[in-house]
Amino acid sequence: RVGLNFIDLMVRQGNIDNPPKTPLVPGFECSGIVEGLGDTAKGFEIGDRVMAFVNYSSWGEVVCTPMEFVYKIPDDMGYPEAAAFPMNFVTAYMMLFEVANLREGMSVLVHSAGGGVGQAVAQLCSTIPDVTVFGTASSFKHEAIKDSITHLIDRNADYVQEVKKVSPDGVDIVLDCLCGENTGKGLGLLKPLGTYILYGSSNMVTGETKSFFSFAKSWWQVEKVNPIKLYEENKVMAGFSLLNLLFKQSRSDQVRAVMDKLLALYSQKKIKPLVDSLWALEEVKEAMQRIHDRGNIGKLILDVEKTPTPLMANDSTETSEAGEEEEEHEGDNGSKERTPFIQ
Ligand SMILES: NC(=O)c1ccc[n+]([C@@H]2O[C@H](COP(=O)([O-])OP(=O)(O)OC[C@H]3O[C@@H](n4cnc5c(N)ncnc54)[C@H](OP(=O)(O)O)[C@@H]3O)[C@@H](O)[C@H]2O)c1
Repeated sequence: RVGLNFIDLMVRQGNIDNPPKTPLVPGFECSGIVEGLGDTAKGFEIGDRVMAFVNYSSWGEVVCTPMEFVYKIPDDMGYPEAAAFPMNFVTAYMMLFEVANLREGMSVLVHSAGGGVGQAVAQLCSTIPDVTVFGTASSFKHEAIKDSITHLIDRNADYVQEVKKVSPDGVDIVLDCLCGENTGKGLGLLKPLGTYILYGSSNMVTGETKSFFSFAKSWWQVEKVNPIKLYEENKVMAGFSLLNLLFKQSRSDQVRAVMDKLLALYSQKKIKPLVDSLWALEEVKEAMQRIHDRGNIGKLILDVEKTPTPLMANDSTETSEAGEEEEEHEGDNGSKERTPFIQ
């Protein structure tokens, strides 16, 4: 199985730094059975159930990756859950506990709270007593995720005002995957000694084809931060990129230690990946469209064993074209080719 991530959408749209040359097989994580081992490979056997990070190419029936990025799947974890686990939970854990030092009584603001990382953040926050979580998400998701987030805010609302209504002093941790003009707002919401972490740039996915102009426009909207102001206001600003940590900065040992802690929390039934839907490899277009349309609650999984749902004769095969203005679909998947297979 393959975990689909927002970054896959960004890769497809060319919204990342130094995209690899095409032809390209996308994908950064998967789960499955070990089919072959290198001569020097130790610690795994043919037939082992494993999950892994892959530096591209996880969207396939057979995947090859160095052993340092592979982890055994616990007996009670299924393949879809395992494909949904590494990226979301390691990212959420490292940001909360290794960068921001989340402790009892603190408060956290997370964007895209109904998504893969957002739900992992919510679950990990619930492992610490008395943590308040503010989360922004499209309003149709609120009913489904209301038990995991203390204060839900519509993604179109003025979240600064909404947070301040409940907590006039702001929050201890802001997790920003939107970037753009949200940096200033996030920093402004921090309590003294609070931590702002930038870990994504979802706002750069606009549906526009990448051009020098669209890229420059996006970067122009990113707010500039004065370090002297951080010093005067006792604020911490950080960035986090798991893929760079793994594939460019050789920190797989540190990530393995985090995976061990996460698997212990899983075995204690304190965390559990939320799977939105399963899709056949042939349905990847519709699956990506569901993320683009903000329809997912939790993680989308490509299932190589799933047979594609037959196309409906009167269905449109149109997806939104690059360059079109984004429309609000809010989970309305009715005019798509196939409907998601909900587990
Ligand atoms: N730095 C890292 O190491 C790292 C690792 C993993 C993920 N990330 C980042 O974390 C964020 C969440 O990733 P994820 O894989 O868990 O995805 P996700 O949250 O499941 O992504 C889909 C959701 O993002 C929200 N969204 C925000 N801006 C959007 C846009 N322009 N177009 C479509 N949807 C948008 C939508 O939810 P609402 O409409 O409900 O807001 C949508 O349902 C992404 O920015 C991703 O790049 C970073």
